[in-house]
Parts: sequence; C-alpha cells; structure tokens
Amino acid sequence: MKSINIRPEIETIKDEIIETRRDIHKHPELGFEVHRTAGLVAEKLKSYGLIVKTGIGKTGVVGDLVGGQPGPTIALRADMDALSLQETGDVSYKSIHDGKMHACGHDGHTAMLLGAAKVLSEKRDQIKGSVRFIFQPAEEGEGGARYMIEDGCLDGVDEIYGIHLWDYQGYGTIGIKSGPVLASADMFDITIKGIGGHGAAPQGTVDCIVVAGHLITALQTIVSRNTDPLESTVVTLGKIEGGHNFNIIADEVKMYGTARAYTEENRQLIKKRMQEILDGVAATFGAVITMDYEDGYPPTINHDSATENALKASKAIVGEGAGFPYQSMGGEDFSYYIQKIPGCFFFIGSAPEGSEPMSVPHHCSHFDIDERSLRVGASVFVELIMG
Ligand code: NI
Repeated sequence: MKSINIRPEIETIKDEIIETRRDIHKHPELGFEVHRTAGLVAEKLKSYGLIVKTGIGKTGVVGDLVGGQPGPTIALRADMDALSLQETGDVSYKSIHDGKMHACGHDGHTAMLLGAAKVLSEKRDQIKGSVRFIFQPAEEGEGGARYMIEDGCLDGVDEIYGIHLWDYQGYGTIGIKSGPVLASADMFDITIKGIGGHGAAPQGTVDCIVVAGHLITALQTIVSRNTDPLESTVVTLGKIEGGHNFNIIADEVKMYGTARAYTEENRQLIKKRMQEILDGVAATFGAVITMDYEDGYPPTINHDSATENALKASKAIVGEGAGFPYQSMGGEDFSYYIQKIPGCFFFIGSAPEGSEPMSVPHHCSHFDIDERSLRVGASVFVELIMG
C-alpha cells in the first residue's frame, strides 16, 4: 500500500473540489466559449479575496494572490475547455450538452486549481511572494495559451506550473521529467491531382490512387530512415479520400495527417523531407502534389530547476509514487508558456479505480477519472507554493 499524504487543508475541502469538478463536467463548453466555466471560476476566486481579471485571452481568468512576505511570483495554470464528443458513460454528472464532453480532464484541472486557490488564500500571510492562478480557454487545438500570453498573463511571473490528469496511470502516481514531455503537433493536408479515365484504359491517365500508394509508403521512410532512431518522431496519415467508382481512374486524392517531434530540428527535418518526397513522387508519376502544412503547438520542454521543484512537491504528497517519466507524443499549448519562462508540466495518475490499464483513454466517450486524484493534484499545487 502506497503512503499518500494529502495535505490536511485539501482533505477538508475534498467534497467541494469534487462537487466543482462534477458541476463543470455536467456543463462542458468548447474552445473560447467557456463563459459559464470562466464565470464560476471568477466568482470563486473573488470570494477567496483574490485580485481577479476576466476576459484575458478572450475568455480566460487570472487571479492574483499577494503573499504577506516578499518573494517570486509563481503561476499555476489550468485549462477549462471540453471536447466535441458525445458522452456515452453513465454517471450522475453526465454532460447535459449534446455533442460536448469533458473527455480530457480539464474539468478536474479547473477544480483542483480552485481548491488550491482557496487553501492558499487562507495562508496568505505565510506566502513568500505572489501566486498567479491562470485559467485558460481553448487548449484543445486553438492555442488559448498564446492569447493569454498576449494579454499579459505572464507579465511579472517568474515560474509556471501546469498539471494534467493522466488516465494511463493509476491513483497515487505522478509523472515528472525534465526536458521534452509532449511533442510538437503539426497538421498537414496533401492534394494529389492527376488525369482520370476509364478503369479499363489506364494509358494516358495519371492514376491518383497509385500515386497515393507510393506516397504513403515513401512518407513512412521519414521516421524509419531519416530521423535518428533514438529520437522519437511520428508521421501519421489519419484520413484519405479520393476516387469516384470501381471502374473509374481517380483524378484526385486528398490525405490528412499529423507530424510530431520533440525537437525543432526534427520538426523541420520532417517538413523538409515531406516536401522532397512529394516533389519526387509527383515527378515520377506526372501528378501534381501540393501540401498545406500548418505548425501546431511547439514541443513541451520542461526546465530543470522547475522540474526539481515539482518533483520535490510531488514526493511530499505521493512519496515513491512520484517521478515516473511519463512522456507522450501528444501536444499541449502549455508549451507556449515555458518557451517564455521557466516551468514544468507534469502528470497526475487518475485512471478510474478498478479499471484495466489503458482502458479509459483520454478523448474517449466514456472518459472519467478517479476523483481521489483531484486531492493529489490540489495538494501538489499547495505544496509547490508552501514548500
Ligand atoms: Ni488535455
């Protein structure tokens, strides 16, 4: 049995944290449209006596807690947005909005940080420096963090910390590592144009299905043959469409995919090799191939000293359960914050109690968490500040 030392102040408000999480879960909002959630956050922060600013990064909320003693300003961040997904689980706090669901745990992130804010606001006199609570919209794809930064949420901040609940690991574990923890997440669309014709008379045509076949195979060689095998990269084609009927030679094929890397060098290498392969395959078959490549979030790269602080705080709460090097090729817009200032993004094990490992993945329609993990996350936030 692992020894877990939830902070007593968090233990006393654990029901309130769970209630907040369930309330937000029941009322999911997408992207920048997090009006109700942001309203709830602002109201609670004000009731704790914080200096609250709303409308930061369009619909984000920032709360400042000025401690009684001099010291640095530490930011703690949560994201508030949900996903376009129909919830299929059967819980009492199931989403009441069709096609919207908190399937990534951001409801929990918001609830944990509010819990920590309440506890810390009661310890104001003992706090050395200030704490800035950042609640951002639009983490899922639209990069809400960039808008928060543009609106000055990092001004005067020395370090920033963010937590993600993590259903791939169980309660009582915390994943922390220095360096890259999440990848860059770029998107691309490829269009192949050829010359259609009768399926029985391929002469004189440029068959886009055949071109696509070669292109798919060639693109797989970027990861297997061009990038260093000791450095993780991904090139995925997630969708392909084209053609008209079984006896018609296709005059157009479209492909959609994502590229992932932990370093800017590999990111650029993938992009460059993709273009070279596209041009080469186009020349080989006489097709016209174009690509629309869009840079997504940069890789999330934790800073050493902030990682040490997060690890120390985590060890105080879950002991030996802290420090597993969780790492994934997923993307996070927390990366924008730690491109600007030192910080650490880490993972709180939250797999539902009794579930099979990996059986409740993030972004799935029956996503849920072990709500005890909210106490862990809130306690680590408090520990980070109080030490
Ligand atoms: Ni998420």
